[in-house]
Formats: sequence, structure tokens, C-alpha cells
Amino acid sequence: MKPKVLVTREVFEDVLQCLSQYFEVTSNQSDVVMDPETLAAKLSGKQGAIITLSDRIDAALLARCPNLKAVCNIAVGYNNIDLAACTKAGVMATNTPGVLDDTTGDFTWTLILATARRLTEAEAYLRAGKWDGWKLKQFLGLDVHHATLGIFGLGRIGQVVARRAIGFEMRVIYHDVRQAVPEVEQACRASFATKEELLSQADIVTIHVPYSPATHHLIGKSELGRMKPTAILINASRGGVVDDAALIEALRSGTIAGAGLDVFENEPKLNPQFLELKNVVMAPHIASSSLATRHKMAMLAAENLVAALTTGKPPNLLNPV
Ligand code: GLV
Repeated sequence: MKPKVLVTREVFEDVLQCLSQYFEVTSNQSDVVMDPETLAAKLSGKQGAIITLSDRIDAALLARCPNLKAVCNIAVGYNNIDLAACTKAGVMATNTPGVLDDTTGDFTWTLILATARRLTEAEAYLRAGKWDGWKLKQFLGLDVHHATLGIFGLGRIGQVVARRAIGFEMRVIYHDVRQAVPEVEQACRASFATKEELLSQADIVTIHVPYSPATHHLIGKSELGRMKPTAILINASRGGVVDDAALIEALRSGTIAGAGLDVFENEPKLNPQFLELKNVVMAPHIASSSLATRHKMAMLAAENLVAALTTGKPPNLLNPV
């Protein structure tokens, strides 16, 4: 008998076909998000699951799923999974690193350029029929070329963003818990800065750290207050790394000039005050969403699940079990 697995959200058909060769698959192609109760009920009797960041895997859920051996996230971030609880329950957890770095880096640049040059604000003005001709001072923005880019987190995605900055002839500074090795700094043409130096010197601050208790509200009122009033903040990492209420106040009062956001606290229920602001460019958590990359992420999660339940050695294992 094939092991039973659950796929919690809609995936590509060929991913389901791949899984069906090894498992009896329960899928959710209608893509309805499962609440914790439904998730626990659907997972009961399953040995494995392909999950997404909308599924919370914690001790309470694991206690109700004694057959579970592996949960495979379709995401590089895994703050939706309580790893310690998984380890204690003997459940392997995996993520999808590597396959989304370039695409997420590209989208970070989409946000940087759109925010610096006020693209969505200008387009809304044009669509509203308000454009009555060229004006010298219309939608004056921030120059990206030759500006200083400040990167929080020079991991895989932060490095992609830094390398793209070479084309814009920018000065790149970064802050991280550890200084990068010289080879990485050279390839990125990036130099280490303290958090305070980065905040006060950067024209564009972009965040590429994982979300954890250590990075909760990494950017709040005092950090925003250290930024230049002409600077912009970009977040394509995770909601919660930025204190959204403090950011809204900073955008409203002119503490900073603008923000480009792909992620929000309590998403998808973002703070409605964002919608009243013109100086914010927003997207619904789509930084990795190119067709090719989302397909690779789902396939990698499937490969992890197959390996977890056949060899016990998934390529992207996050916890020692
Ligand atoms: C998306 O947010 C991811 O972590 O892959």
C-alpha cells in the first residue's frame, strides 16, 4: 500500500502526477485555505504533507497526527513551522532554498524602482484622468543610479540584490549577524556597516532576513527615525520584520519618503491605513511568483517529500530527526 500524503493548496498538475507515483495523494486543487481544525482533520492518517506558509505546523497539530513523518514547505522561509515541535515529534521539515533567489531578487528591484520613481502613484493619477500635460516638477522621484543601497541580510537573496546593484553603479552597504567572507563581499561589491550606519547612510534600505523572534520588528519607530527623509524602505522578506504601524506613521509624517512592500503583518489582512497612503507600492506576497520559479519550488517540495518518505534523507532537511 502506498503511503498517504496531503497537499494543502493548489499545485501544478505534473507535481501531483509525480507525487502519485509514490503516494496516495489527497489534494486541494480548489485552493481553499484550511483552518487549523480542518488541517488537523485532513492530516490525520497521513504520513506526509506538502504545505505552504499559510499552514501553521505546531505542537498542538502534531499531537493530533501521530502518523506524520514529514512536512515539506513550498517556501524558503519556514516561520510557519515550529521546528522544535517537529523534531520532538520525529517529523522531518523541509523548505525550498536556492530555486527562488534570482526571481525574488528581481522582484526586489521591481519594488525599488517602482517606489523610487513613484510608478504606481503616477499610474493611478493617469488612470484617474488627471493628467493634463507635462510638468517640470511632476512626480519627482529618487535617483537609484549612484545611490547608496543598504541591505539587511546578505544571504542568498540579499547577495542577488547586491549583484544587481552593480549595474546601477551604486554604493552597497550591508548589515548581518555575521560579516560575510571576503569572496562574497567582493562578488557583491558590498561593505559591512553597523545597523546605525546602514540606516543613516542608505538612500534605499532593503530587507532580506528570515522572520524569527530575533528579527521581529527589526525596523520600528527608532530605526525609521534614523533613516534619511528622502530614503525608501523595501521589504520582500516577511511581515513582522517591519513594525507596520510605525511604518505607516513614518510614511504619513514624512520621516521617510516611501516604501515598497511585498509582505505585511497579519497578511492577507493588511493594515487598511496602508491603502490611504500614496507613497507606498504594494504587492500581495508575489516576489517568487514567476511561472518557472513557482513550478521549481513546488517540484522541490515534492522531491523533498519523496526522499523523506523513501530514504529518510530529504535534500533540504531543516531539523535533525
Ligand atoms: C516566500 O515567501 C518564501 O519564503 O519562499
